[in-house]
Amino acid sequence: MHPLVDAENGTISREIFVNPDIYAEEQERIFARSWLFVGHESLIAKPGDYITSRMGEESVVVTRGRQGGVHVLLNSCMHRGMKVCRYDQGNTRLFTCPYHGWSYGIDGKLVERPGQLVGVPGFEQHYHGELDRTAWGLRHVGRIALYKGTIWANWDADAPDFLDWLGGMRAFLDFALDHRDGSEGSSEAIGGIQKWRLNTNWKIVAENFIGDLYHDISHRSVDLVGIGPSGGKGRRDAQRPRMQIGFPGLGHGGLGETPHNSEPDYAPAWALYPEVEAYYRELHEKRVRNLGDRPRVTMSVGTIFPNMSFHGRQPRTILMAHPCGPTQTEMWRIYLVDADAPEAVKDAARHYYLRYSGPAGMTEQDDMENWTYATEASKGVIARRLHYNYQMGLGHARPVPGLPGAVQNGPMAEENQRIFYNRWAQFMTQAGWDGLMPTTARALEDAD
Ligand code: FES
Ligand SMILES: [Fe+2]
Repeated sequence: MHPLVDAENGTISREIFVNPDIYAEEQERIFARSWLFVGHESLIAKPGDYITSRMGEESVVVTRGRQGGVHVLLNSCMHRGMKVCRYDQGNTRLFTCPYHGWSYGIDGKLVERPGQLVGVPGFEQHYHGELDRTAWGLRHVGRIALYKGTIWANWDADAPDFLDWLGGMRAFLDFALDHRDGSEGSSEAIGGIQKWRLNTNWKIVAENFIGDLYHDISHRSVDLVGIGPSGGKGRRDAQRPRMQIGFPGLGHGGLGETPHNSEPDYAPAWALYPEVEAYYRELHEKRVRNLGDRPRVTMSVGTIFPNMSFHGRQPRTILMAHPCGPTQTEMWRIYLVDADAPEAVKDAARHYYLRYSGPAGMTEQDDMENWTYATEASKGVIARRLHYNYQMGLGHARPVPGLPGAVQNGPMAEENQRIFYNRWAQFMTQAGWDGLMPTTARALEDAD
């Protein structure tokens, strides 16, 4: 195990949150071989559409080719490394490098593979027609997975399948991505991507969203204000009892409900907007019909190792904590709605999302204050000699009936954080894939 992480006893050295050498190693050991969320298909709906995204510190272009396929390319010119795309999103047939003008095709008859080098200024005159253009296309990622509208990429072509990576966490991610009426998928990203930076380590963000219910006290002010869509107390409505549910050996987890077979009665959640309330009430009835007595789970918030977090219910959003240095993180939020929801419903959701999340969101601001001050107060020569404490609920985890590979603890516990840092330590100490994937998860699910 890693010398700085003692998840068995619930202590972790502060070094892993501030040390530049450890940070550099994480880029190699974790971000160069983990499945990373890079975008949502609704953001690149048409051929030639693209967004720029990130994988660890790398800038990537996520684009849709002429045949409809999704491609993820390193956003770095093969000549001298200039970013070939400096926009957040757009539609193009070609990325032309601003430095010396090499151009890479995305779409078009002559482009066999997106990212192919199609134009080199002075190819005949200066290169004497001798440059092997087929060898100098933009670098593709090793693997891509599309899952219910979400796009994931992995630099490592030998990485395990995405669904194995996800394991039993899949059911919880489904809750965020599926239609509120219980049918599969069909969520879309509303608006663009909110992006902002804050001075903290990326893991502090990931471990908060993996199930830190204990920090509820820091949201007291926003709870008193009451920003929920029903105008009552608190920042959400109809909160259900939650447990910490985590996946040892995979590193994922969140605050969710254990599997159950029936839908609780509808609880009004959008009382401030009668039209929206009526829509959700109707959806609830459809959901009851669609799901019948099939097992279902919900998750209010969770993290998929290493740095993708999501809120499943209120708000409904995906967060990426992109590392930008040991004590700097770039946050990206994508907000989800059912694609076929009426405009009024989308609009009400958008307003609620904005007052809750993002750089100006009242709840997110509370979290950001905690994370930035904790980082500031942890990086001094004295402070960093100490360890953080993760001992809550140590030794009290138990299996989750009906959910192979999962354990539950809590609702207040730090089991999921220990699971997350155990996974982190595994990646940091093991170079190959041997022994890195548990045999539980999909294998057990398939056997059911
Ligand atoms: S760096 Fe792109 S063409 Fe030279
Ligand atoms: Fe929070």
